[in-house]
Amino acid sequence: MISRTSIMVAAARAFGSREPDESLRNPDYLADKLIGPEELALIAEHPLSKINERDYAEAFQDPAILFLVWSMLARTRFIDDALRRAVENGATQIVTLGAGFDTRAYRLQELLRHCRVIEVDAAETQEYKKQRLQAATVEAPANLTYARCDFACEILSEVLRTAGYRAEEKTFFIWEGVCMYLPEASARQTLRMMATESARGSSVVLDYANQIGIEIGMKYAQGPLALAALWGEPWIFGVPGGTDGSEFFRELGFERGELISFSNWQAVSRYTSGKDGRMYGAAVFQRMQQEAQSQGRAAMPELTDEQREVWRKGAHWMAELYNI
Ligand SMILES: C[S@@+](CC[C@H](N)C(=O)[O-])C[C@H]1O[C@@H](n2cnc3c(N)ncnc32)[C@H](O)[C@@H]1O
Repeated sequence: MISRTSIMVAAARAFGSREPDESLRNPDYLADKLIGPEELALIAEHPLSKINERDYAEAFQDPAILFLVWSMLARTRFIDDALRRAVENGATQIVTLGAGFDTRAYRLQELLRHCRVIEVDAAETQEYKKQRLQAATVEAPANLTYARCDFACEILSEVLRTAGYRAEEKTFFIWEGVCMYLPEASARQTLRMMATESARGSSVVLDYANQIGIEIGMKYAQGPLALAALWGEPWIFGVPGGTDGSEFFRELGFERGELISFSNWQAVSRYTSGKDGRMYGAAVFQRMQQEAQSQGRAAMPELTDEQREVWRKGAHWMAELYNI
């Protein structure tokens, strides 16, 4: 099964890379080459599937498009920045887990020229991506190795070793938009592997939900979350309770670096603002917020106060973790 969620997020980056203002543009310029009409047809249920038929400025006003494109702008920049820092701090190995249509190995070749890069993904999605890269004449760099793994039933460390991974090297792991799809045991096992089978000072960037957020999200599922479930990729794993996960990650051997809730507009705006300080889509978001406020509590009537508080503080986070 090809991961349609991987196509949906890449389509969001492709759209974001068309932004006329360079300082607000998603840096993933290769996404637009990889996501063509056939890929858009695979996500027909999402309004992003029509981006080639709509004017950018008009489609930008669509909240269903804007929210995902804004989130991807934050994620792409957050991870690109962390990747640059990791390489400057001596990481020589980059491992992208659940790579989907991640393009960092191709678009950041100069930065990664002295690194070993390993992309890991489920077989079908990886095969599909390789075909798309070929069709779009995007050449894979010589330092890139592809490895196939189903995180739910294979031993990741064995797969990585076969792919040339060296546990003694300082490594940067990218786990973008993946852990929420995994059974809890696999998510824990992957975190444990990253913490114990990499050199001290290695780091991980990931985004994740908390458990209460997953419960609320699935109960009132709409937009990307509902589509993920429809496509057989439901969000099932969340860090315990309604927390930001710091405690959970500490117990697994990580010290937190930067950690941001997608509900914290101020924090996210560091990654989604342009040169004039204006946030991507600010006016549309303001309008959405006013509409949500006027609908009030009716939007999710059965939530307890605790759940409401978790939702307000944030259910979806991005973090940088250090192996200590
Ligand atoms: C939402 S996509 C994210 C793709 C990419 N990291 C990005 O952010 O563009 C989820 C990815 O997780 C991968 N994935 C989900 N469950 C998996 C599993 N059990 N084993 C291997 N890969 C898995 C999918 O193949 C897909 O590439």
